Amino acid sequence: ETQKTVRINIYRGDAEGGEFVEYDVPLVEGMVVLDAVLYVQAHISPDLAVRWNCKAAHCGSCGGEVNGRPKLLCKTRVDDYEGEEIRVSPMRAFPLIKDLVTDVSWNYEVARSIPEFKPAEKAPFTMYEEDVERLYEPKRCIECFLCQDVCHVLRSHHKHPAFAGPRFFAKIQSLEMHPMDTGHRTEYLKEGRGGIGFCNITKCCTEVCPEHINITDNSIIPLKERVVGDYYDPAKWLMRKIRGR
Ligand code: SF4
Ligand code: F3S
Ligand code: FES
Repeated sequence: ETQKTVRINIYRGDAEGGEFVEYDVPLVEGMVVLDAVLYVQAHISPDLAVRWNCKAAHCGSCGGEVNGRPKLLCKTRVDDYEGEEIRVSPMRAFPLIKDLVTDVSWNYEVARSIPEFKPAEKAPFTMYEEDVERLYEPKRCIECFLCQDVCHVLRSHHKHPAFAGPRFFAKIQSLEMHPMDTGHRTEYLKEGRGGIGFCNITKCCTEVCPEHINITDNSIIPLKERVVGDYYDPAKWLMRKIRGR
């Protein structure tokens, strides 16, 4: 029996430009796109650049695009594309370094710009069970930045200087929800680098999140409401902080 092969087109290039190159790789039952890419790197083109680490959807380093959709390459099965052409490309919201590897450092700059966790100086504060539950969801984030990649605000305005992006709205919401936190982030969200007003709730971020974090409903919408509440009713913010909720 002859070995079946699958054709994948991989973007090869750098900041100067590039193109898709076709490769035929042996088809293995259940293989993921990263397997095919690593086969090319091992047997056909050793200089192919790809970032990966865990191969188990935990580390968040293998983010790219398959047929234009943001995906973890290690979690995307080749047989999901049966009968279709497969095109693997780097995340387009970030500057390309080489082939499938982009420079995601902009995200870490955003992370540093967020007003940090500020614990209440003295107890009592009450930790309710539902607060703990709500805190868990954003903590599942593996920082793959697929949500950042898909968001049109970042895609079309590349490195938007005044938009933190969905991953960081989830982060901010986890800080804001923390019963011990006394930080104040509504100015950051409205007038600072947060720029939450640019989000028009397309929900694309929630759709691509491999950790199924409901970024839009559980983080962005509550934060937008909080911004409106705090801006038009500052006493509300104070009460919320005093009550620890
Ligand atoms: Fe990735 Fe989801 Fe975290 Fe965004 S929120 S960086 S899509 S794990
Ligand atoms: Fe972008 Fe998500 Fe809002 S994709 S526009 S941050 S709902
Ligand atoms: Fe770690 Fe894909 S290699 S998430």
